[in-house]
Amino acid sequence: MSELKNKEILLAPLAGVTDNAFRIICEKYGADKTFTEMISVNALIYDNRQTNELMYISEKEKRANIQIFGRDPEKIERAIKEKINPLENVKEISFNMGCPAPKIFKNGEGSALMKDPNLVNEITKTLVKSTDKRINVKFRTGIDELSKNFLEIGKICEDNGIDYVIIHGRTREQYYQGKANWQDIKKLKESLKIPVIANGDVFTVEDFIEIMETTKADGVMLARGIMGNPFLFKYIKDYLANGTYKKVSYKEIIEQIKDQYELTLKFKDELLTVNQMRKHVGWYLKSLPNATKIRAKVNTLKSKEEIFKLLDEYKNYLEVNYDRK
Ligand SMILES: Cc1cc2nc3c(=O)[nH]c(=O)nc-3n(C[C@H](O)[C@H](O)[C@H](O)COP(=O)(O)O)c2cc1C
Repeated sequence: MSELKNKEILLAPLAGVTDNAFRIICEKYGADKTFTEMISVNALIYDNRQTNELMYISEKEKRANIQIFGRDPEKIERAIKEKINPLENVKEISFNMGCPAPKIFKNGEGSALMKDPNLVNEITKTLVKSTDKRINVKFRTGIDELSKNFLEIGKICEDNGIDYVIIHGRTREQYYQGKANWQDIKKLKESLKIPVIANGDVFTVEDFIEIMETTKADGVMLARGIMGNPFLFKYIKDYLANGTYKKVSYKEIIEQIKDQYELTLKFKDELLTVNQMRKHVGWYLKSLPNATKIRAKVNTLKSKEEIFKLLDEYKNYLEVNYDRK
């Protein structure tokens, strides 16, 4: 276990999920780094209001970083120099070469860049010369099973001075399905000198131990595993410190939902908060008994008071039906 102690545990960029409130919570539970969701360099250049909100990093965040995506090296350079370099609280920039979404892929952005190693060469050179901040590139194993080129992409990153890489062990064709290939992550780790962060299918402490033992990567990036379960950061950190961890109770989960709700209200208006929180509530309650009805009901509620009341009722229900059994 001692060899796991210095591994970094990162919060993944997650579109529609890793907003200010959720990043603050993940920091509280021990995330060594957090990232905004991916932000378009085009939108950054055109000073789009929504993009400025996505980029906003609050004073409470000490380990938050920005992820960008794009294709045109000139625009990438401009966006970094004009919009990100002035932000002193941002230490790192992540560049996205992994997004599989059709509308991104069609534009030749995200994972589509892996089809074009020459352009990856140009972009990674541009990233490094545009900033003094640390840069990572996040990519997949390839476009599909027959054209896996993660070793080539990793080497280009290393040769051009990228500080570290993050690899999601799936192809673009897999989206988020099938199992992430941890053997491929291991191969990348063996082939590079720069740090490699492993990503894909870490949902539990046991997964964390196994991915680290299999890949020998320098850290892990948690994604779907922390949706509704930011406690996973704490479980892993506790395990590393003491060799054990204790799962939170349903009471703590319900308190955490309320805390996140209040925190989100500090950054978003009432309507946006309700919309944003509905999905988080669904994720948080997923593991609890008889939560299906509550999850469905939350989606019909429109205010904090209604949602908190429902959560309290559910808490009482669990107390009577489960605690006192
Ligand atoms: C809802 C959702 C949004 C995501 N948004 C981003 C993103 O903005 N940038 C990015 O690099 N990856 C994004 N990803 C991919 C994750 O960061 C991660 O690479 C992927 O989910 C694999 O890890 P997992 O198997 O642990 O979930 C997203 C994934 C999901 C499920």
